[in-house]
Amino acid sequence: MPQSRIRNATLLARRMSADAAAALINPGTSVAMSGFTGSGHAKVVPGALARRIEAVHAAGDPFRIRLLTGASTAPELDGVLARADGLELRAPYQSDPDTRQRINAGSMNYIDMHLSQVAQFTWSGFFGKIDTAVIEATAIAEDGSLVPSTSVGNNKTWLDLADKVIVEVNRWQPEALDGMHDIYYGTRLPPDRVPIPLTRPDQRIGQPHLRVDPARIVAVVETDAPDRNSAFKPIDDTSRRIAGHLIDFFRDEIKRGRLPANLLPLQSGVGNIANAVLAGLGESGFSNLTAFTEVIQDGMLDLLDAGILRSASATAVSLSPEATARFKDTIANYRERILLRSQELSNHPELVRRLGCIALNGMIEADLYGNINSTHIMGSRIQNGIGGSGDFARNSYLPVFLTPSTAKGGAISSIVPMVSHVDHTEHDVAILITEQGLADLRGLAPKQRARTIIDHCAHPDYRDALRDYFDRACRDSYGKHTPHLLAEALSWHQRFIETGTMRA
Ligand code: COA
Repeated sequence: MPQSRIRNATLLARRMSADAAAALINPGTSVAMSGFTGSGHAKVVPGALARRIEAVHAAGDPFRIRLLTGASTAPELDGVLARADGLELRAPYQSDPDTRQRINAGSMNYIDMHLSQVAQFTWSGFFGKIDTAVIEATAIAEDGSLVPSTSVGNNKTWLDLADKVIVEVNRWQPEALDGMHDIYYGTRLPPDRVPIPLTRPDQRIGQPHLRVDPARIVAVVETDAPDRNSAFKPIDDTSRRIAGHLIDFFRDEIKRGRLPANLLPLQSGVGNIANAVLAGLGESGFSNLTAFTEVIQDGMLDLLDAGILRSASATAVSLSPEATARFKDTIANYRERILLRSQELSNHPELVRRLGCIALNGMIEADLYGNINSTHIMGSRIQNGIGGSGDFARNSYLPVFLTPSTAKGGAISSIVPMVSHVDHTEHDVAILITEQGLADLRGLAPKQRARTIIDHCAHPDYRDALRDYFDRACRDSYGKHTPHLLAEALSWHQRFIETGTMRA
């Protein structure tokens, strides 16, 4: 590896192997690592730590850590540490199959929380003292500051608070990332908070590098390992129809003067549906769009390439291998148009509200009144986590949730009488979309919402059963404002658990 990526002489002398660096991490401590949606994560120290943990376990001794990151990472971070049974606690967002399996088996703790609040929680000490931070950087500058890589996440906070810091300098990351980041150092805890001076999504209010006292950097590990994101599923008819309903709605809102012709800053959630929606926007004649979001996925890169999206502000660039190659080849084109910020800023309620974002997020299920479950299968098994969906939904100008109307080949209805777990309440949901149609819930009272959701969003196979439930609830419910038959409401889910289908 050319030494030019480590331009600080003192830190050049602290280079060591991943195994030597992992030996500096102690059992029972809180360890904060970089990484957000499969990009910018620590890539080799976690594997070395997992091997060490396995050796300690083999000798009959305990070794687990409390692991914090920006959001989900990859098999070589979450996966290896979960498989080594090295995690006592994981926070905030995860989507790794091994981690999920252990959380749902009850063998490790998981704190799923709003991503904008992780920094504040850590500053307030709720995760204990941060013993070690493991941070990926593209390079180390002469002054010892870090050139961030493809995600910023919580790295600023980790570097501010950790007793000791291990830096992974990753040569796979393009050096031309330098200058794309906007690291803001003005956030404070109450009562010292002041307004964040950001009024446009593409505004730069911070500095390009992460600062850290070089004296706290105890190890520098060189790597050449790729970010880890899989390709999206090809866009199917269901996703195309969901995107179509949203685009028709946008056109109508523009006609009614409720949205400007170039919409408002877009936030787009993770997953295949979100990607399909962005593809739909690309084919629909919109222009001069902006994004104020968490993650730039393939669909947003396509919109930037096509000149449809003017700029995108996020905390991570998280691309499929194909899109990564394109991003690296033409990175100069994105230099001024992509800004990567700390997740404390990319998801900040004050900014989401001020900019008037349009929040587009996936979900597991919605109920008749518009309450949303984004995280739990059958009320008790975590899928991923709430991520930034609550940061955006609660504070956006237009909170939109999207899902196919059924799951598991039609055995499950995504519209249910009562959600089995609540992540977003009916008060934070304006628009619900399935491939069946769009329910505009703005200005509707609960019983009106229920009828609209059944008529527009439920799959025809489940409409009669939902109407039957709702009619009986309207007749027999204890109160008639938000009618429910409490003993029956969740029997839909119980039926699936017992018979493998929600069908009556
Ligand atoms: N009931 C039971 N299972 C359901 C379900 C439902 N109503 N809806 C989906 N599922 C299952 C799917 O069958 C699938 O299971 P599998 O992995 O065993 O095949 C799994 O949940 C994931 O569903 P999929 O259709 O692949 O979802 P997706 O990629 O579109 O993601 C969410 C949907 C809700 C899981 C995802 O959007 C998410 O994690 N959201 C919360 C976080 C968030 O919004 N982040 C963005 C903020 S920036």
